[in-house]
Amino acid sequence: MNLCALISAFIVLLLAILPFTVLNTSFWSIVRSLLPFAPLSPLADLLVKNATIYTSDDSLLYADSMAIRSGRILRVGSYANLQDLVHYGTEVIDAGGKVVVPGFIDSHVHLLLGGLQLEHVELRGVDRKDEFVRRVKVAAMNSKPGTWILGGGWNNDLWGGELPLASWIDEITPGNPVWLMRTDGHMGLANSLALKHAGITKSLDDPNGGTIIRNPAGDPSGLLIDSAMKLILVSIPEVSVNERRDALLRASRYALTRGVTTVVDIGRYFPGMPTETSWEDLSDVFQWADSSGRMIIRVCLFFPIETWSRLADLILKVGSSMSEWIYFGGVKAFADGSLGSSSALFHEPYAYDPQNYGLHIMEPKFLLNLTTEADKSGLQVAVHAIGDKANDLVQDIFESVASTNGVRDRRFRVILVIEHAQHLAPGSTVRFGQQRLIASVQPDHLMDDAHSVFKKLGMERAQGGAYLFRSLQENGARLAFGSDWPVADINPLGSIRTAMKRTPDGWEEAWNPSECLTLVDGLNAYTISAAYACFLDEHIGSLSPGKLADFVILTTDSWEEFAQEGYASVNSTYVSGKKAYP
Ligand SMILES: *[C@@H]1O[C@H](CO)[C@@H](O)[C@H](O)[C@H]1NC(C)=O
Ligand SMILES: *[C@@H]1O[C@H](CO)[C@@H](O)[C@H](O)[C@H]1NC(C)=O
Ligand SMILES: *[C@@H]1O[C@H](CO)[C@@H](O)[C@H](O)[C@H]1NC(C)=O
Repeated sequence: MNLCALISAFIVLLLAILPFTVLNTSFWSIVRSLLPFAPLSPLADLLVKNATIYTSDDSLLYADSMAIRSGRILRVGSYANLQDLVHYGTEVIDAGGKVVVPGFIDSHVHLLLGGLQLEHVELRGVDRKDEFVRRVKVAAMNSKPGTWILGGGWNNDLWGGELPLASWIDEITPGNPVWLMRTDGHMGLANSLALKHAGITKSLDDPNGGTIIRNPAGDPSGLLIDSAMKLILVSIPEVSVNERRDALLRASRYALTRGVTTVVDIGRYFPGMPTETSWEDLSDVFQWADSSGRMIIRVCLFFPIETWSRLADLILKVGSSMSEWIYFGGVKAFADGSLGSSSALFHEPYAYDPQNYGLHIMEPKFLLNLTTEADKSGLQVAVHAIGDKANDLVQDIFESVASTNGVRDRRFRVILVIEHAQHLAPGSTVRFGQQRLIASVQPDHLMDDAHSVFKKLGMERAQGGAYLFRSLQENGARLAFGSDWPVADINPLGSIRTAMKRTPDGWEEAWNPSECLTLVDGLNAYTISAAYACFLDEHIGSLSPGKLADFVILTTDSWEEFAQEGYASVNSTYVSGKKAYP
């Protein structure tokens, strides 16, 4: 054996022992130049070329090619610079000039509810009473007597504002209890049979934090707001474990069709729901899917703030993720309700209802206590706050928590998220920036709200404080976009366009045009900023060497047109370098 062969054998041995990750390209090129064949060199198993890649990574924002190995990004750049990574086994995708972006991260979904709703009566987008009734009738014909008919997504503002009543559907659903959630999840319609099952009668008082809407004679009308919904929800049979597992798989497949590769799951938790559901979903559904290899999107889970100590214990025991699929985010609380249900909390009363300022869902001192405790244990806290008063309250609480729990670099230890952040008092965006808060917002709610916001708030307030995306960004807040699915559809490309154009259906002009964002702002808010907002920016959120290879090939091949018009749809979605859709 000559010396050269001996050295080669030694190097091959070295390669087998050393983990690939500590070795970088220049090291490999030296090794390769020493060896006639480099059996373990870091060649790409997938190469995307001839693409218009937007990376979301400041160090190299645009490129035409990207090499991937073992589910991670190896190198991004021009084709000429990547050619040395290609070998006979490399799969090469010629993207034909199409735009490629990082996999979208939806910062706010209720994943299992979304999956369940795909099977339910779909009332989203319905703009006529007779169509509403027709869809319920079809569901009634397909349901066994006695079983619940569930559905949701309705928005009365689309047919002029009149609220639906049990009497609309009682005649067509004599044998089935019915529960239909409004699009915002803060109000629902029950038919009379469902009211009877739940014991909701004339003599029953409104529960704390909720309203039973009554007709002029004082009888329940079928409509229930916020915690009053609990009265019905407890009488609906629990969805079975198998139904929830199916819902996860269905929801995940649907998310992939929209280019979503990671979701921040806020759970099945709404005000009034038992907090236990989130924990049951973790053990019954997510752990099951992970351990049986069924996860196809990544999820970052949030838990009700009341259960913060349970989450803190779990993270101490197993760390902040279970696998490359399941990450533990933080805890979520509700400060107020929603605009659609007139339960968002404002300093001024609703324009058409001078007695109503909205609702505290959680008592401020209770919210302060829980936020302080959760923050102290290192958890990320997300608080739902829509009205200006609720936003001010939450910012006061965050400020007080930061001073109680001591100065530290909260950007890395705790990120305080205000979900929705839709209607802010003057000066509020500046505070957002000063506190370096994450503004987790849902641009598509702008479309839903557009029809009601002027009526509810009055012209001046609606113009002043709604959806201040650009002001928030310019004042230093970090925008993380999401959908709130199934409240709105899961559709990042649609939301980005909404944030760019701010032009609801039927409108000639943009709503507050000075708040329009650029395409790049929108893409960042759905990728790298969304990853930062849930502490996952080390792993995902941009097409950077070493990160997981989650990306989307879009249908458009013109970046200029896309940046101008905002129109594109998903051609294919890749997760960990593997095609996951179609
Ligand atoms: C990686 O490459 C750089 C130069 O590009 C070099 O300074 C560094 O030592 C290399 N690291 C390893 C682990 O080979
Ligand atoms: C890239 O794709 C376009 C459209 O298919 C094609 O016309 C062009 O020749 C391709 N360029 C390269 C360098 O392959
Ligand atoms: C929160 O409330 C609990 C129970 O009342 C109490 O023991 C705890 O000290 C409170 N924590 C803070 C930070 O106020």
